[in-house]
Amino acid sequence: MRKLLASLLLLLTVTSSYAVEGMWIPTLLKRYNIEEMQKMGFKLTAEDIYDINHASMKDAVVLFGSGCTGEVISGEGLLITNHHCGFGQIQKHSSVAHDYLTNGFWAKNKAEELANPGLSVQFLVKMEEVTASILKGVSPEMSNDSTRKVIVANIEAVKKSYQDKNKYQVDVKPLFYGNQYFAYVYEVFRDVRLVGAPPVSIGKFGGDTDNWVWPRHTGDFSLFRIYAGKDNKPASYSPNNVPYHPKKFFPINMKGIREGDFTMVFGFPGSTQEYIPSPAIRLIIEKSNPNKVDARTIKLGILEKQMAKDPKVMIQYASKYAGTSNAWKKWQGETKGLIRLHAIERKQKEEQAFASWVNQDGSRIQKYGTILGDFNKLYSELSDIQIAYDLYNESVARGSDIFGLISRFDLMVQSISDTAKFNKLKPALEAWLPGYLKDYDQATDQLVLPALLKIYVERVDPKHLPGRLNSLKSDLMNPNFLQSAYQKSIFSDSLKIKSLIAGFDAKAARKLKKDGLYELYTTISGHYAKNIEPKYLKLTQDILKVQKLYMAAILEMKADQRLMADANLTLRVAYGKVEGFEPMDGAYYEYFTTLKGIMEKEDPKIADYYVPEGLKRLYLSKDYGPYANSTGEVPVAFCASNHTTGGNSGSPVLNANGELIGVNFDRCWEGTMSDILFDPERCRNIALDIRYALFIIDKFAGAGYLLKEMNLIQ
Ligand code: ARG
Ligand code: ASP
Repeated sequence: MRKLLASLLLLLTVTSSYAVEGMWIPTLLKRYNIEEMQKMGFKLTAEDIYDINHASMKDAVVLFGSGCTGEVISGEGLLITNHHCGFGQIQKHSSVAHDYLTNGFWAKNKAEELANPGLSVQFLVKMEEVTASILKGVSPEMSNDSTRKVIVANIEAVKKSYQDKNKYQVDVKPLFYGNQYFAYVYEVFRDVRLVGAPPVSIGKFGGDTDNWVWPRHTGDFSLFRIYAGKDNKPASYSPNNVPYHPKKFFPINMKGIREGDFTMVFGFPGSTQEYIPSPAIRLIIEKSNPNKVDARTIKLGILEKQMAKDPKVMIQYASKYAGTSNAWKKWQGETKGLIRLHAIERKQKEEQAFASWVNQDGSRIQKYGTILGDFNKLYSELSDIQIAYDLYNESVARGSDIFGLISRFDLMVQSISDTAKFNKLKPALEAWLPGYLKDYDQATDQLVLPALLKIYVERVDPKHLPGRLNSLKSDLMNPNFLQSAYQKSIFSDSLKIKSLIAGFDAKAARKLKKDGLYELYTTISGHYAKNIEPKYLKLTQDILKVQKLYMAAILEMKADQRLMADANLTLRVAYGKVEGFEPMDGAYYEYFTTLKGIMEKEDPKIADYYVPEGLKRLYLSKDYGPYANSTGEVPVAFCASNHTTGGNSGSPVLNANGELIGVNFDRCWEGTMSDILFDPERCRNIALDIRYALFIIDKFAGAGYLLKEMNLIQ
């Protein structure tokens, strides 16, 4: 009896999940999704989401910068995204004197809004399938090289075929590994100003400790405003620009959410790999993730210590730390999740089923018979090159500040006889340098460089290291050796760097070769460029070619099924329900968190759990205004079963009526493998409850005037 009950209960929990795997293409909702969405509670139509003739939801969603989403929430171009998406901008405007990270920033009127050179937002004007035009002239027998050439030429031709090329930006991107292509037409706005941001103690509450974890209490939002020329069209920054009037903005629903409510996330998911084979997953679990994680553990350990010592360093490295830590933590959760799901075995089973499907038919054997064998062979060849590639990236290319700086000088050295190129690089470096120096701390970087080079020479197979590095091995293991080279280097002296750029010529370039660090960098990077990168590129391209064929076969094998295309940083719809989950045996996580939980987490000894006085006061006096939920609590975040990934941060989370109920910002720890394998039971996206943002803007920051532009549904 007890057993029966237990299995009944299990059945109940299993079927209680409403998660729908997939990030779906707006123009194909009608064919594949809308019926299911409506069954789940959605009250609108596919045209309400995407329409090119009338204003639709897509006209209120933007690609924010190069890897986040944002949504328009007022008729005057006001935009909400995550705090962590605006973090770079907030950090750039911050100094010890104007510390907007610590204190928050609220423009009291439009004149106080801060410009952000380099930041853009893009609205999708339309998207269209262009597969036939892109694959014209491509045949399976062609080599990688000639295929690429034909496709590149076709892409250019398709792009040209769009009129208004000056008005719009046109991208062509592959789906299903190049078995399909879509063209995307964007309107790009480049005058986007910072309007408001809570202090990090709210916008990043829980910090890197809580990152990727539910239950969550982060007020992860920031506000920007899109500006346009007087004609409401994109214009480069000018004080004369005016707030952009969008075709559509999201109304904000303050009535709250309940478990089981329909939700959709409409944004720009970056990339997923749902169709990679078992040897690829093995490489990720066993080599790639562990190596990248270990290199970053070393770097983060150093940054953490240095940042704790000095408030200036704390600001300088805040953005770098967050950026390094985010993927570092995700890779760890991903590995755990893949192991827990027995991802390798699962894929192997699918591959067996695939093999028997292939073997049923002579022509399939002809076309697809070698796929699995090719994968195995290629991935085993890739294995130690992958290690060299990953650790080069982590330790050399993106490891220390100083190697980053040297790499830019090295580009100039290499183009010294190419005047046109040189004349572009030099001013670019001059423009980049002040930002670099603002966020550079020699004492910190001087520790990072030797520590990362150590793991590089330790882990990379000697046959993939430059010979000289092998002979330098014992020196490199000795941090003092590198530190003294560091101190002697011209690149550790800001004055010398500036004068070096100013008079940079062939003679200066030659002299650089005497600089110990420059010499070390070019030895490693030169070897990498000659010996590692080409092999890596060749193997990964060969793999992609097999993967494309595998994908074609899967599309054929599952022709009667609906298949999700991997994310490719284009506008997609994910849908599911507001719901909690069972993270582990014996525990159940509720679907929402409240201000009370912030007070429970408060810990003066842990910086991530610092609660600002003003917020405490509001909590103690229960001064919640209209922002409390039905039990009188201020809601902070909620989780739901939408399939999301990096890039979805800042995405609107919408209810059945297409009203904004939250801003997406993360996923739960137990579901971080969803880029590779989605588990409807445990994959949850995490959203800020929009009422918390309103509460912070109005009650905490006293910026309630901003609410007047919004359409609030109470
Ligand atoms: N994990 C989220 C994402 O991938 C949020 C990252 C920002 N937060 C942080 N504590 N670093 O972007
Ligand atoms: N935090 C991620 C982002 O920045 C979202 C995710 O990976 O779930 O896009």
